[in-house]
Amino acid sequence: MEAGFEIAKDIYWVGKIDKREVPFHRLLLTKGTTYNSYLLKTGKPTVIDTVDMEFGREYAERIAELIDPLDIQYIVINHTEPDHSGGLAALASKATNATIVCTEIAVPEIQQMYKLQHRDFLVVKDGDQLDIGGKTLLFKETPYLHTEETMITYCIEDKILFPCDIFSTHVAVNQLFADEAGYDITEDYIGYYQAIIHPHRRYVRTLMDAVKDLEIDMIAPSHGFILRNDIAKYIDLYATLSSETTEGKKVAIVYVTIKNNTKKMAHILRDSFLENNIEVELWDADKAEEQDILNSIAAADAVFIGSSTKYADMTGNLESILRKLETLNLDGKLAAAFGSYGWSGEAIEVVQDYLNGTKMTVQSTSHVIKTTGMTHVEFPIRVRFSPKEDEQIRKIKNAAEFVSDLLLSAI
Ligand code: FEO
Repeated sequence: MEAGFEIAKDIYWVGKIDKREVPFHRLLLTKGTTYNSYLLKTGKPTVIDTVDMEFGREYAERIAELIDPLDIQYIVINHTEPDHSGGLAALASKATNATIVCTEIAVPEIQQMYKLQHRDFLVVKDGDQLDIGGKTLLFKETPYLHTEETMITYCIEDKILFPCDIFSTHVAVNQLFADEAGYDITEDYIGYYQAIIHPHRRYVRTLMDAVKDLEIDMIAPSHGFILRNDIAKYIDLYATLSSETTEGKKVAIVYVTIKNNTKKMAHILRDSFLENNIEVELWDADKAEEQDILNSIAAADAVFIGSSTKYADMTGNLESILRKLETLNLDGKLAAAFGSYGWSGEAIEVVQDYLNGTKMTVQSTSHVIKTTGMTHVEFPIRVRFSPKEDEQIRKIKNAAEFVSDLLLSAI
């Protein structure tokens, strides 16, 4: 497929098919992928998303065969990850009159990545529209699908949705449209969803709200097939796959506390799990019977254990419980450590060490980043002094929501 294929009136695919086995998010894309970019040759010519940085120069040269780059008025960047924004540096160096259109969070990212501090940016917010001369673009923010700055773009007149990563497939074939693929693409579509979108499925609800009132005749994503048949089926698949299991799940939260700060953390965790329809058993290890706590841990799907720190160690009765974890069958459970501290919070790390010695899947910041790319979820959960500040409370809730999503995942 040569760049310049017209997918709708005055809308051209100007992407790149990458048939390599591309390493991506700790996966190897054995079927390759495509980086779909679109040129809208309107009164104010506009490009929506670009291609991987490796192909930036050839991408800009191909666009220059279709239009004088100086005529390009807007370059829309829905998502800043370099497989879509990577061609921007080469394109922007030729399209010197173009304004870059993106969300507020995306601006510093683009400026830093491509040294575009001196370019004009148009920051758009949820629901904003942009007249591009004969067509109108509507922007909807879709944060965390799959990064914070992400948005989707909808062309009102043509009823085409440009959702970047969302509704994509990782394939490298010459057929642009799913209905011309010659096979049922559903497996590829679901595989992509599972790899890229599912870890962020909480935010698919925002997406469903964003698209529910849009009349969509075509979905033109930035990887793989363009969809123009069965649109509702493909959107509904995201709703179904991101839905929650109705099976009851249970969390055991066990803590010891000196000045009630770790207790406050435990209560914030409990309330967050309850908000997510997860049953909670909450235990003060210095007050409850040890065997009751161990029974609760054995029956739980996830175990949160917290301690204040005194003289660089845990307090109270917690260590006795942690030592007995090896007597329980904890296979398949999730676990996390937490605690309030004043200086270094050694106890939290000691709890983490004990948990790591079990067969539970212990949450860690490193694991979260490697598996989801999320940087706003931290494990173990460490709060200095009392969890009073919004930021500290948010940190605790983020951790609870992350584990809730793991527990309630329907797939
Ligand atoms: Fe296709 Fe998030 O990049």
